[in-house]
Amino acid sequence: MSATSPVRPVLPPDIRARKGGTPLVVLTAYSTPVARLVDAHCDIALVGDSVGMVIHGLPSTLGVTLEMMTLHGRAVVRGCTRAMPVIDMPFGSYEESPEQAFRNASRLMAETGAPAVKLEGGLHMAETIAFLTARGVPVMAHVGLTPQAVNTLGGYKVVGRAEEAAKVMADARAIEAAGAFSVVLEKVPMGLAGKITAALSIPTIGIGAGMDCDGQVLVVDDMLGLFTAFRPRFVKRYAELGKMADEAIAAYAADVRSRAFPAAEHSFPDVIPVKT
Ligand code: KIV
Repeated sequence: MSATSPVRPVLPPDIRARKGGTPLVVLTAYSTPVARLVDAHCDIALVGDSVGMVIHGLPSTLGVTLEMMTLHGRAVVRGCTRAMPVIDMPFGSYEESPEQAFRNASRLMAETGAPAVKLEGGLHMAETIAFLTARGVPVMAHVGLTPQAVNTLGGYKVVGRAEEAAKVMADARAIEAAGAFSVVLEKVPMGLAGKITAALSIPTIGIGAGMDCDGQVLVVDDMLGLFTAFRPRFVKRYAELGKMADEAIAAYAADVRSRAFPAAEHSFPDVIPVKT
């Protein structure tokens, strides 16, 4: 890499330029091994604050801290050679003021090496998004169902039916005008998601937002069948790794109890055999 080449092969302007092209492929990642798998096939590795529920067993994303995002962010950046890592800003780290958001976003970027952050919110976060983008922090926005607002929304509901549609459209337009380079549409009815995608000049990345978005994102543990506490309608299972792991661990436990494991081939001889 020369001193004048970009710090990463894929940067926010490259993602923005994919508007209307081949769909963007996005998965979450929270660790280096999974980031390597995602890196081989995806455009973006999202270090989602879903890490709190999926990896740390929290009941919602509200308990996720900046320290957790930094640690998982570093691990994912280490595993990405091509895909662009994006790190979620946790609840409470950006809502107070644009200055607070800049302080914490710049810290996340500096301490992890990720080239962009994601934050939740539409119109009310537009001033903050403009403040961040003007100061070198590329922002992926997130509208529709915003899980950090689960308590004000009253649950993990579809957002954007009937009179809510105009508000979600206004949110999307506001974050585009503020300079976001892309936007996640979560649990937005598919017709509305299609209209937002057609109206915006930046890529929309859907999760439970139908077929017409510019890209798709899923939580990797959901699509691999590793996170089974609940299964939203928008999750398609591409593997049943949780079931496979359960069967493997049950077989190991049975082998240990019956002394079938370890066998001689897993053990070390007392004397090193002489090679002839
Ligand atoms: O935290 C997360 O994983 C997310 C995706 C579901 C978009 O925000």
